[in-house]
Amino acid sequence: MAKLNLYNEQRFDVRPQLFGSFLEHMGTVIYTGIYEPSHPSATPEGFRGDVLKLVRALGVKTLRYPGGNYTSSYHWEDTIGDQVTRPKRMNIAWQSLETNQFGLDEFFQWTQQANVDNPILTVNLGTRGIDDALHELEYVNGKYDTDWANLRRQNGHAEPYGVKYWCLGNELDGPWQVARKTPEEYGLLANETSKAMKLMDPDIETILVGSSTPRLDTYPSWDLKVLMEAYDNVDYIAMHNYIDRDQSENLDQQALRDSDDLPTYLARSREFDKQIDEVATIADAVKALKHSDKTMKISFDEWNVHHFSQKKPQPWGEHNPVDWCYFDLADTLLFGSMALAILRHGDRVKLSCQALLVNTIPLILTDEGGNAWANPTYYVLQSILTNLSDTSTVVASSLTDSQNYSTKRYQDVPVIDQVVMDTGSAYVVFAVNRGEKAQTISMALPATIKSGHMEHIVGELGDKNTREHPETLTLQPCDDLTVKVGSKAQTATLSGYSWSVLTFDY
Ligand code: AHR
Repeated sequence: MAKLNLYNEQRFDVRPQLFGSFLEHMGTVIYTGIYEPSHPSATPEGFRGDVLKLVRALGVKTLRYPGGNYTSSYHWEDTIGDQVTRPKRMNIAWQSLETNQFGLDEFFQWTQQANVDNPILTVNLGTRGIDDALHELEYVNGKYDTDWANLRRQNGHAEPYGVKYWCLGNELDGPWQVARKTPEEYGLLANETSKAMKLMDPDIETILVGSSTPRLDTYPSWDLKVLMEAYDNVDYIAMHNYIDRDQSENLDQQALRDSDDLPTYLARSREFDKQIDEVATIADAVKALKHSDKTMKISFDEWNVHHFSQKKPQPWGEHNPVDWCYFDLADTLLFGSMALAILRHGDRVKLSCQALLVNTIPLILTDEGGNAWANPTYYVLQSILTNLSDTSTVVASSLTDSQNYSTKRYQDVPVIDQVVMDTGSAYVVFAVNRGEKAQTISMALPATIKSGHMEHIVGELGDKNTREHPETLTLQPCDDLTVKVGSKAQTATLSGYSWSVLTFDY
């Protein structure tokens, strides 16, 4: 039987903003995703009430907006003021038409109704630069009697929004990016933009564009170079990574991988562990080279399992369905392990955004004029978010006598992937069973445990939450847990191919 050991003296704080999500003007994320004035559940502002309800129940507190690739050519001023006179533009990143009916002020109204209190805004450092970033910051956070701040007041928003987190552009290393830059060009621009933005508002924190994916051959030298330019003036380096079952290891290789190799697919969260360690190592090297006292934080602001579009995009349509997909149980288990990799590195990763919230590789799916429901990945994130608070800590833990497996690509993969959190009133064990067989674990917990319960997501590997059967995979109570009050040894059985959450109240 596997034994879970805790090292209570080794722990670090984890806060609710560690697990955020992402809204981009692409596909049907905004239009018919969160904004659909003609929908039966629409609020007076035109927000989908059914989606708001799901977002509130998810408990997400951090949200990145409005992109993504979209931001590298967008003009934030197009999105404010009277909706009737807002310009319609070509969204060249996603080959669609942008009506700008949902813009910056609508976003803040929406976040308020969704109980999201940490927006992350991305400025355009593709086709634009320092001036525009400063104007946007003044509109959003400006407190004084100045032109842009007064325009916000004139638009009906007297109070500054006080946005703390600002991304200095998006994926500017990517060949697909509008106005891609060299690391030296970008590093200099980001440094000067951040410096100027902080002169305007010293309370903000800024996020530097790191490599878009470890599969680019400029990874991780891009990170080293941009950090060398901007280290002193930024607070976070960004990481992005999407894992697709049919993806090659390097962007230049055409060969498909993993399609029929479930054990390898389920082990691919290891790429997250490796990437976080590598980016942290690069950042620490720059810290040493610069004789700096500051430790660079990581913002893993785009991550997810990925599938290609199930709806055909129609170029230059409005709310063009670029991407839209169901995740099955296998995807959900990998997603769970990805989330555990982030949690395990919560001493270094301080922000993350699952991408995206609605309709594009989403947590929530919507039908135009119809229902909204959740992919099973939603329930994984919900179960973590429910346990994060201003007192939560991750406690170091290890498994002994547990099973490992090896594939061509990965050696010694633990069948049970786990992280333990102390919420301040309970120990919570999050676990993925990557194997077909049930696994019993015995847990050495403090003898103060008073009660316990367990929930899990289980099913067939190919199960999905479809519009016809939207609740095939959800978090369900499970009684495979034995709690012995006053004892240090507790036992639980994790079903084969499952995501489990074990809560021990003390
Ligand atoms: O799927 C979202 C897109 O993926 C974002 O716009 C971009 O940053 C990433 O390449």
